[in-house]
Amino acid sequence: MSSFAIKDEAVEITKHLSLLTLDIILQCAFSHNIDCQRVGDKHPYVAAVYAMSQLVMLRARNPWMHLWPMYRLTPEGRKFVKLFNLVHQQADDIIKARREVLDREGREKAGRGSRYLDFLDILLTARDPDGGGLTDEEIRAEVDTFLFEGHDTTASGISWSLYCLAKHPGHQDRVREEVDMVMAGKDEKQLTWQDISKLKYLAMCIKEAMRLYPPVPIVSRKITRDFVLMGHRLPAGATLDVNVWCLHHNPTVWGEDFMDYRPDRFSSENMKKMDPYAFIPFSAGPRNCIGQNFALNEEKVVIARILHRFKIELVPDHHVAPVIELVTRAVNGIKVKFIPRD
Ligand code: HEM
Repeated sequence: MSSFAIKDEAVEITKHLSLLTLDIILQCAFSHNIDCQRVGDKHPYVAAVYAMSQLVMLRARNPWMHLWPMYRLTPEGRKFVKLFNLVHQQADDIIKARREVLDREGREKAGRGSRYLDFLDILLTARDPDGGGLTDEEIRAEVDTFLFEGHDTTASGISWSLYCLAKHPGHQDRVREEVDMVMAGKDEKQLTWQDISKLKYLAMCIKEAMRLYPPVPIVSRKITRDFVLMGHRLPAGATLDVNVWCLHHNPTVWGEDFMDYRPDRFSSENMKKMDPYAFIPFSAGPRNCIGQNFALNEEKVVIARILHRFKIELVPDHHVAPVIELVTRAVNGIKVKFIPRD
């Protein structure tokens, strides 16, 4: 994580975590290192993604902004276009840099496994049976999706998990015991794949945090043909929102204690009884999240390593309130005290 005072001072964690997860996705999917944690939240890409998601929500709530020709003339619309270009530029820069590497190495060589192939190599070297590859436009769309879907969502997931664990010291202690057991006797402070799968209680805590604070609170679908839902005809072309937030807070689904943080809802016995559509932080169906395993592992590693080194506490006078934007954020951020363990 980016450098911050490690005494028992309070730290606003969400911005640090956004930078961390951006560095992680850039490194893991694109082998690209911008070290944005050192630049801070003034990093143009990070700041643009944040501002754009607020603009998207503002537009969604104001019907008169829905018409693009009108919207683009407003100050908000003009700002959106500027940010949009900046975000695309980041993707273009990444693609351009890799094309140069591939041209230097020779595409054939890169495709035959002379070095570790990342997601971008696969996009750039993919060929259909006729030898055609993805167009620049298609590759950029994939890079944009990965960058956006792969960092802000995970930052939200980690932030709310840390919030819940700081708020519930009993669960935090139990996770720490599990982490200590997995880390016992290791010289290295790194977690291996085998270690990650042993962090079962941590996984339950992460899922319960994603139930209470789903990182993606609403999923939208454009209806391609008319259909009837509970007696109401929905016309083709309409947009249908699936409100994940409401589903995850529905007492009929979760019981009257739906507001309580109870990780045991996700024990293996309880999960067997759970409706497969009761818990959908990664959406459901054919277009669900393709990064969900990566995201869960990333959350586990980050949280385990933090809890191995620190006890975390909330700051009593800092009110934390969720706000539903493209991802679930905290209005004034989340402040956490990191108390080094002896
Ligand atoms: C806690 C973290 C994450 C959450 C909660 C999350 C959630 C979601 C959701 C709800 C969707 C579906 C959106 C829709 O149906 O309209 C989605 C799609 C997607 N996610 Fe994630 N995501 C997370 C992390 C990631 C990561 C780390 C990656 C990349 C490694 C990723 C890559 C994608 C991609 C590429 C799609 C589009 C899939 C498609 O359209 O077929 N996500 N994600």
